[in-house]
Amino acid sequence: MLKVFRGELLHFLADPAKVSLQDSYQYLEDGLLIIRDGIVEQVGDAVDLLPTLDKDIAVTHYENGLIMPGFIDTHVHYPQTEMIASYGEQLLEWLENYTFPFERQFSDLEHGKNVAEFFLTQLLAAGTTTALVFGTVHKESVEAFFTIAQQKKLRMICGKVLMDQNCPDYLSDTAQSGYDDSKALIEKWHNTDRLQYAITPRFAPTCSTEQLNKAGQLLSENPSVYLHTHLSENEAEIAWVKELFPDSEGYLDVYDKSKLLGRRSIFAHGVHLHDSECQRLGETNSAVAFCPSSNLFLGSGLFNLQQAQKFNVNVSYGTDIGAGTTFSMLSTLNEAYKTQQLRSAKLDPFQSFYLATLGGAVALDLEGTIGNFTKGAEADFIVLDYHATPLIARRMQHCTTLSEKLFILSMIGDERHIKSTYIMGEKVMGEKVMGEKV
Ligand code: GUN
Ligand code: FE
Repeated sequence: MLKVFRGELLHFLADPAKVSLQDSYQYLEDGLLIIRDGIVEQVGDAVDLLPTLDKDIAVTHYENGLIMPGFIDTHVHYPQTEMIASYGEQLLEWLENYTFPFERQFSDLEHGKNVAEFFLTQLLAAGTTTALVFGTVHKESVEAFFTIAQQKKLRMICGKVLMDQNCPDYLSDTAQSGYDDSKALIEKWHNTDRLQYAITPRFAPTCSTEQLNKAGQLLSENPSVYLHTHLSENEAEIAWVKELFPDSEGYLDVYDKSKLLGRRSIFAHGVHLHDSECQRLGETNSAVAFCPSSNLFLGSGLFNLQQAQKFNVNVSYGTDIGAGTTFSMLSTLNEAYKTQQLRSAKLDPFQSFYLATLGGAVALDLEGTIGNFTKGAEADFIVLDYHATPLIARRMQHCTTLSEKLFILSMIGDERHIKSTYIMGEKVMGEKVMGEKV
């Protein structure tokens, strides 16, 4: 079935940090997005494409808004949805006092489904259409998540947490049971519809060397699955890793020794990386998820985007709910900009929207599948609303360039500024719009 959308339209073709700005995106003031059976067929100027369409086709026309690919959140914990904004601690105490007791509830499949339903609704309302998601140590948590994501026809990646040391007994697996449970989940869910699996060691301190090695073994046995973990988030955490793994050259090297780096490996945070670690991430094509709201909330530090770019590391954004304080990718862009200001660096709005869309797809090795409107891509897209609130409507009156509009959306935008969210060409969130005849 053919579906046609008309309006201001933007998507990225390449990283603005690597090519000239003009070559990095396609922007159409009055564009047409043509979708067949949930897949992008064509994008172009309305004036050129409208005459080529059958007269009977309804065109959904969005005014005062911007059609763009759905956002991609490359690090988030669905089980932590209801513990967002837990007061007063930095990482290690926050985990012990709030997170571990909270995650205990996810041995219950029904509880997991209930939270997954709410979590995914929040993501879609925020304009995020794909995410790389932590479950808990319980296999039921992933079963619950995939069941709901499948019902919603979403492209989602999730994995069961591996943790066999330095954690409460009630939240501990073993190297063998973690391997077996992950393997069974891969067999059941990986590449089922649009679902994919990520092997998910929580972080080095809660994983024995045996467990990390088993994770590496599982990854080599299943090269199309992902590896998702935390890395160099907090100073006390890094000092602890040094104590626990005295034979390693550094934090990243713990994972490297277990063969966990590669094209489908995503490391969350990376706030305190050495140049040599960035070099290794770059040369192995691994990705780092920049989680600004979480890094500020837990007082973890200011991510060095320039350093990562210098070493050609794939970077994308993560909300990191529940250490992050928002589901909104627009708000995440806001916090990223302010983080870079505190480093005396500028974060250009084109670069930031790239990271939130195509950059996420590149980090997840899904370029061509999601993240832009290239022919053949899955039509997960959103409509941003320039008139969502009286404030943004007034502010937009003073805008003359796309760059300004993007910047304003990323500074004052949030869920209210997502007019509609579409999954495979079907509207799943937002107001009713009038179809118009060509
Ligand atoms: N490091 C290990 N586990 C976690 C977690 O749940 N959240 C964050 N932000 N960092 C972690
Ligand atoms: Fe996290």
